[in-house]
Amino acid sequence: MAVTEETLVHTRNSHVAAISRTIHVIIFNIPLKRRVYGLILQADMTVVPYKDKQGSKKQQVASMFDNISGKYDFLNHFLSLGIDILWRKKAIRQLKKDHPKQILDIATGTGDFAIEALALNPDKVTGVDISEGMLAVGREKMKRKGMDDRIELLSGDSEALQFEDNKFDAVIVSFGVRNFENLEKGLADMQRVIRPGGKVVILEFSKPKSFPFKQLYNFYFKWVLPKIGNTISKDQAAYTYLPESVRQFPDGESFLQILEKVGFKNTQCKPLTLGISSIYIGTK
Ligand SMILES: C[S@@+](CC[C@H](N)C(=O)[O-])C[C@H]1O[C@@H](n2cnc3c(N)ncnc32)[C@H](O)[C@@H]1O
Repeated sequence: MAVTEETLVHTRNSHVAAISRTIHVIIFNIPLKRRVYGLILQADMTVVPYKDKQGSKKQQVASMFDNISGKYDFLNHFLSLGIDILWRKKAIRQLKKDHPKQILDIATGTGDFAIEALALNPDKVTGVDISEGMLAVGREKMKRKGMDDRIELLSGDSEALQFEDNKFDAVIVSFGVRNFENLEKGLADMQRVIRPGGKVVILEFSKPKSFPFKQLYNFYFKWVLPKIGNTISKDQAAYTYLPESVRQFPDGESFLQILEKVGFKNTQCKPLTLGISSIYIGTK
């Protein structure tokens, strides 16, 4: 074949096109792959308090709460301007018509939710937690308030509860489920120990959605709260873990779907304070 000016131009053009295609692929596909890979990583990633330390999420969470137990109550009320107290009261009111006599408070910590549950006039509130430090502060508080005959605080793991099936009229959890290592396992075991017809009431942080409150709140939650919390608690990770764990945690409809998956019926979500927290309710 004779090499004409026309074929030379054509060959040069197809080389240029091939090179430009390669550059296009490099520029656009690599970041895309990274994005997809990042999403896969994110889906697998468990948020733990101490990223540079060994140990399961459960071990890390227990040791984090042991560390901050002395300052936990103060920081809770200070950082939420006391609104956490109103949220707990409102969550407990969801059980008013049920008159539960045996109540289990999971992830009871220093026992504030268990104390609020006394408003329902139960025979007994049992609280369980994996942090001995939080339980010690809680037991001291119950003694001081003369409530230790009606509230019992025990060491216990939400994912392997030490109680028989169908024991409790109601199971309650405030700001605990987000910290579970295995959320579904924890919720399923809670469902197991509730009697048929009994209720679960869960209070947990959620994510505000409306502009501009969402932006203002996110600024406070991500930048201001960790600085104050970490300084006062003297734990460099606890109050950084808080917004990170909330960001990654399912809220609203997604959380209700998980409750239903483990067997709860008539599930409801009641957002509080423009969606900063939500109350979730389900029936066994
Ligand atoms: C943010 S505190 C909430 C304490 C209390 N309910 C309140 O409203 O103040 C979370 C608690 O969950 C506990 N926790 C985390 N995982 C748990 C598990 N698998 N079983 C029992 N308690 C758990 C922690 O030890 C911690 O005391």
